[in-house]
Amino acid sequence: TGMFTYDPGFLSTASCQSAITYIDGDKGELLYRGYPIEQLATNCDFMETCHLLLYGELPDGKQKNDFTKLVTNHTMVNEQMQFFLRGFRRDAHPMAIMTGLVGALSAFYHDSTDINNPQHREIAAIRLIAKMPTLVAMAYKYTIGQPYMYPKNELSYAGNFLHMMFATPCEEYKVSPVLERALDRIFTLHADHEQNASTSTVRLCGSSGTNPFAAIAAGVACLWGPAHGGANEAALNMLGDIQKMGGVAKVGEFMEKVKDKNSGVKLMGFGHRVYKNYDPRAKLMQETCKEVLAELGLENDPLFKLAMALEKIALEDDYFVSRKLYPNVDFYSGIVQRAIGIPVPLFTAVFALARTVGWIAQLNEMIGDPEYKIGRPRQLFTGAVRRDVQPLDKR
Ligand code: CMC
Repeated sequence: TGMFTYDPGFLSTASCQSAITYIDGDKGELLYRGYPIEQLATNCDFMETCHLLLYGELPDGKQKNDFTKLVTNHTMVNEQMQFFLRGFRRDAHPMAIMTGLVGALSAFYHDSTDINNPQHREIAAIRLIAKMPTLVAMAYKYTIGQPYMYPKNELSYAGNFLHMMFATPCEEYKVSPVLERALDRIFTLHADHEQNASTSTVRLCGSSGTNPFAAIAAGVACLWGPAHGGANEAALNMLGDIQKMGGVAKVGEFMEKVKDKNSGVKLMGFGHRVYKNYDPRAKLMQETCKEVLAELGLENDPLFKLAMALEKIALEDDYFVSRKLYPNVDFYSGIVQRAIGIPVPLFTAVFALARTVGWIAQLNEMIGDPEYKIGRPRQLFTGAVRRDVQPLDKR
């Protein structure tokens, strides 16, 4: 009993007040703290974006230096973490490893586990942003059996990630400025997206007063699913499958399957709960995709051609037009990541790395909201009415 609004999937329920990210889904507009994503992706880097999301304003030169230095000071992880990694099979999915590693941070940094203490939250925020690239690179190195690479603090945030991923003790990795910039842009485009499933998970988890690392680990777990962050991996696998079927010539046939509701096949990287127009991040990602492929001399990349062919058909096809299904950020981000050399199973971990700042900004906002309470949804009960337990021999 009780009068509750029933809203499966939260189609029309606002779970919180927020001043961080604004999306106009009909216009295809995305603003972080009022700034259009196009301007941030073009004129700012990820460290500036992190500062903006966490503190509400873009940094000036000094603030940027100070913030970057602070993050840089925390890029190493406790040496014990590598023994924790050893418990995993070498063929473990990187997101399985990441849910474990991020949760395990709670056990290492006791001076930043009290979510109600602003100083603890501040250090936890910096630690998480600083350590995510290290952890993702460690997960990767572990799965391929190479030694872990320590962070190099003279490199940029994105450059350092590329170094930890691709350098070995025998050989330096020469970071290409175009690829570094592309990766930095991927991070900026994924940094926050208001109350999506993983962010809502982080808020709900944090609302119980758990520690910030545990709350972010819950976000990582939620992001893994193919309807959410896992879509970048699923989209690239889909392109690979169509390529195996025969490539661009088979696009029509594949689209028929997508439109057949009984097939269970979706066009991965298409559609969005909020955007009923072109996802602005997808537009920027497509641009970056072209730049990266040109830099690497891969203008004829078959998967990019395939993606463009799929998009062209979808944008003209009544099935997609009538349902307002457009490419989302994950449609092109996988092609960029793959061109950079990031292996497909790691794509969602890169998304998690980038989204961490958004999760923390949202968590901080929630804790600071005087109206915040533990999240506790109600239900419409549809089960058995009251009945009496019968003795075992009478059932
Ligand atoms: N391919 C084919 N049909 C689709 C697709 C798709 N990708 N997306 C939605 N539809 C259809 C859906 O079947 C439904 O049709 P009908 O009205 O006939 O039943 C209609 O479009 C509305 O879709 P919905 O599933 O009710 O929409 P939703 O808001 O519940 O789901 C979504 C949004 C993103 C989960 C969904 O579009 C989807 O599964 N897309 C593919 C996965 C994907 O790319 N996810 C990444 C999202 S963006 C990155 C992120 O933030 O994580």
